[in-house]
Amino acid sequence: MKPFNIGDIEINPPLVLSPMAGVTDYSFRRLLKKRGGVGMTVSEFISVEGMTRNSPQSKRMMRFREFERPFAIQIFGANVRRMVMAAEMAEEQGADILDVNCGCPAPKVVKKGGGSGLLQNLPLLKEILVEIKKSISIPLTLKIRAGFDDTDRNAVEVSKMAEQCGVQHVALHGRTRQQRYTGLADWGLVKQIKDAVSIPVSGNGDVTSVEFALEKFKETGCDGILIGRGAMQNPWLFRQIDDVLNGRDAYQPTLEDKQEVLLEFFEYLREDMPEKAALGKMKQLAGQFTKGLRGGAKFRQTLYHSHSAKEILENIGIYFDTLNKGGTYGSNEVEKDAETLDSCEAAAV
Ligand SMILES: Cc1cc2nc3c(=O)[nH]c(=O)nc-3n(C[C@H](O)[C@H](O)[C@H](O)COP(=O)(O)O)c2cc1C
Repeated sequence: MKPFNIGDIEINPPLVLSPMAGVTDYSFRRLLKKRGGVGMTVSEFISVEGMTRNSPQSKRMMRFREFERPFAIQIFGANVRRMVMAAEMAEEQGADILDVNCGCPAPKVVKKGGGSGLLQNLPLLKEILVEIKKSISIPLTLKIRAGFDDTDRNAVEVSKMAEQCGVQHVALHGRTRQQRYTGLADWGLVKQIKDAVSIPVSGNGDVTSVEFALEKFKETGCDGILIGRGAMQNPWLFRQIDDVLNGRDAYQPTLEDKQEVLLEFFEYLREDMPEKAALGKMKQLAGQFTKGLRGGAKFRQTLYHSHSAKEILENIGIYFDTLNKGGTYGSNEVEKDAETLDSCEAAAV
């Protein structure tokens, strides 16, 4: 529960914004970093096929701001030569860490042998890791799933092999590829990996509260925790966990903070993309963020049906004005479950 190192890079606090394709872009990471408590950010997964062909999309995805450091670029693919080239490009771009994706369950990615497909082909994974390791000087890390399916939960074996190849950190999302996002992540496996290797190990999956995070640190002895979807529901979660890790009361965001987060995010998006795309991203965040808000279901619908920047800003204003004046909004209730979020499947190309 203290900072840890990946090579000579300190991860402090030991909390990582987990990569989410289509979500953890330049604007979202900026928003989260500003809330505090994020010890490392990671790019969305970037196709080595696109990167090594100089696709404009890949170039955009490699951008980061200095204040994000330490910043990792995550790549996916299965072609050794292109994986190595992409790793070199990430280092040239100034990334602090190079992460290899071994978890994406999207058929498009797996069919070509990449993402969680690499968990089924350890000789290829080994070759990729060994060759990348030879060609970069920044630390190499790996993000894996529990295994491909229940008959082959090989995360411990993969982690041991990765360590031998010079990988300096393993992050486990404790579901198999077959599970996608169903069931619960197996945190027992995080402990098994931690016990089996001497490099730092982080756990990941289903962290949406301070209590859950603290419990998992304690139960597994993991060095760090990655949080993905929970960051969209509660952008202050990292700060809250860090507060409690340091003996402070967890920060409780005010209504004003919540309004500010939405407005700030929209401002960042509009700086970075056309209005229509920015509206789409706002709606994506709203799907998760409104879960914890009073009258959140109606507010979300209002945002979904906003078709211009002016309209979305007006609707945000009306919602928070109503609550600030003590009024009721929609059912006035706080929902229990957020809408299901598509995984990397939607973003895979
Ligand atoms: C929309 C979405 C996109 C994702 N994209 C990536 C990705 O690009 N790279 C990756 O390693 N994991 C990706 N993941 C998996 C997350 O990083 C994380 O492992 C998973 O969501 C479990 O953690 P959580 O319960 O904290 O969200 C994605 C997940 C979601 C929901």
